[in-house]
Amino acid sequence: MNKPLLSVNALMIVLNDASQKKILDEVSFDVEPRSILGIAGGSGSGKTTLGLSLLALISPAMRIVSGEVVFEEKNVLTLSKDALCSMRGSRVGMVFQEPLSAFNPLYTIGYQIIEVMEAHHVLSGEKARMRAMELLSCCGVSDPKRIFSSYPHELSGGLRQRAMIAQALACGPSLLIADEPTSNLDVTVQAVILDLFRSLREKMALSVLFISHDLGVLRRVADKIVVLNEGRIVEQGTPSVLTDQARHPYTKALLQAEQI
Ligand SMILES: Nc1ncnc2c1ncn2[C@@H]1O[C@H](COP(=O)(O)OP(=O)(O)OP(=O)(O)O)[C@@H](O)[C@H]1O
Ligand SMILES: [Mg+2]
Repeated sequence: MNKPLLSVNALMIVLNDASQKKILDEVSFDVEPRSILGIAGGSGSGKTTLGLSLLALISPAMRIVSGEVVFEEKNVLTLSKDALCSMRGSRVGMVFQEPLSAFNPLYTIGYQIIEVMEAHHVLSGEKARMRAMELLSCCGVSDPKRIFSSYPHELSGGLRQRAMIAQALACGPSLLIADEPTSNLDVTVQAVILDLFRSLREKMALSVLFISHDLGVLRRVADKIVVLNEGRIVEQGTPSVLTDQARHPYTKALLQAEQI
């Protein structure tokens, strides 16, 4: 069997105050190459903390107590600052809920995609420009030239999210961490973006850690789903197994919440 691309082993993160409250408690899972792992859970269950900890980025209010995050056979939590900087944005891309706040309003979309390639010494000049257009087109932008020269506020929410995914792919990462990437989009646009993630997985040999509070979204996009509750994994499995044979009351409650 292939080695997992990412392996999280018994990760434990606590609040750095007198309470020492557990934010992530013995969290373990693998992400296989070319697969989409869904992380489900209600508000405050630890999803964002988990996503950020994979890049060794956690709030100063928290502390990693124990565990490992092994990505491409290296333990991220013991990497040097330089090694971490080159990994972030290059081997691992991030996509957030609100692309408007992630893009700088003063620069065009194209400029901001090229900037990432130049910062990581991947491509520059005309080659970077061509690659940026290609990436926009791969992300389903039908008019890449126009979008390339547009400013973030000139685009619809769906187009902005496509542009943000293109930017996250700029350096050819093997993993995308997407934190609620469709939660601010209306349902039809959401469906199109979910299909885009599925197609990128094939076209770009990409794995995705897809974080969402919405189990319905994850059932549509993920190959496997992990359910977090209060920092603990309470259940994991394929979407169909999870739907038909949910054992944990919390998973059942999430499934019921979808039907309201
Ligand atoms: N900077 C911080 N200081 C103290 N506690 C924090 C901080 N950031 C997060 N927390 C706490 O850590 C826990 C996990 O938060 P996290 O943001 O990871 O949850 P989440 O599942 O992403 O929630 P949401 O669905 O609302 O985005 C919560 O109990 C939250 O209150
Ligand atoms: Mg969150």
